[in-house]
Amino acid sequence: MAKEVVSIEDLPGVGPATAEKLVEAGFSDLMSLAVATPAMLKEAADVGEATAMKIIMAAREAADVGGFETGLEVMKRREGLKKLTTGSQQLDDMLGRGLETQAITEFYGEFGSGKTQIAHQLAVNVQLPEDKGGLGGHAVYIDTENTFRPERIKQMATAQELDPDEVLSRIHVARAFNSDHQILLVDKAGELAKEYPVKLLIIDSLTAHFRAEFIGRGALSDRQQKLNIHMHALQRFADVNNAVVYVTNQVQTNPGIMFGDPTRPIGGNIVGHTATYRVYIRKSKGEKRIARLVDSPSLPEREVVISVTEAGIRD
Ligand code: GTP
Ligand code: MG
Repeated sequence: MAKEVVSIEDLPGVGPATAEKLVEAGFSDLMSLAVATPAMLKEAADVGEATAMKIIMAAREAADVGGFETGLEVMKRREGLKKLTTGSQQLDDMLGRGLETQAITEFYGEFGSGKTQIAHQLAVNVQLPEDKGGLGGHAVYIDTENTFRPERIKQMATAQELDPDEVLSRIHVARAFNSDHQILLVDKAGELAKEYPVKLLIIDSLTAHFRAEFIGRGALSDRQQKLNIHMHALQRFADVNNAVVYVTNQVQTNPGIMFGDPTRPIGGNIVGHTATYRVYIRKSKGEKRIARLVDSPSLPEREVVISVTEAGIRD
């Protein structure tokens, strides 16, 4: 009888050397292999097409992807959905009372639009009790641009009459040095969530490393495939922990567009289709920011105005 597959090393055709190469390339668990393509594995681990296919099929079986749930099970799971307040009533309303657990919410916009400020605010708010719009949990903050500022957390915590040091002690920050490291840190976050009640996972920025590392047309499909794996891992984190996943994304200008807004988010379809909620945020006068819900499964597209103040995100 075939050995039960519980980790990468147990897959047929995967010896220790191959396993190591796979993990180095970011395939750190069965699910990441299950959603991979043969071409990705061929490149990552120097294996042939047939072996790559065999690994993927075995990983799919073991990771139980594509399994069915009954409508009743889906309903039960969704009954556990919770909402996390942003600090702005308007923004919460637009999102259907706040950021939803078991979902990925993406905020995209140009520099200085407030994406990182919102990340800080959420890391504080997640610690509030549920009757105050929080989830009574910890935050994991994956920082790719070195913009996490404990001083800013202190200001926001103090504004809500929370003990700043206590608040800081429930935010687990890691600096991601490249896209592989970023992917690995999501795994680590999963481990951390077994130790602490992690209810919020932040990736600020989701796409910066990917954008810097995969340059030129030839690299685009590799980048998108890797982003795809990453997004699946994030969705899984959200589901398993009934947590909110908040990711930020920048925009790039498309000079080919002559009418309308020439900016669009990085990561294209992959990020767009995997994020459950997409919000486009842009600068307005002074502290004001305009946030627009551009993609959601059940809410109408609309715009609200928020402020980035000393105390944090407000109406
Ligand atoms: P990139 O990461 O560069 O793409 O930008 P971002 O969207 O993350 O912008 P970020 O959230 O860093 O917003 C920075 C802006 O927030 C600043 O330009 C300020 O306008 C505002 N801001 C930051 N700290 C404070 C503060 O303490 N008080 C007030 N009033 N505004 C602040
Ligand atoms: Mg930022």
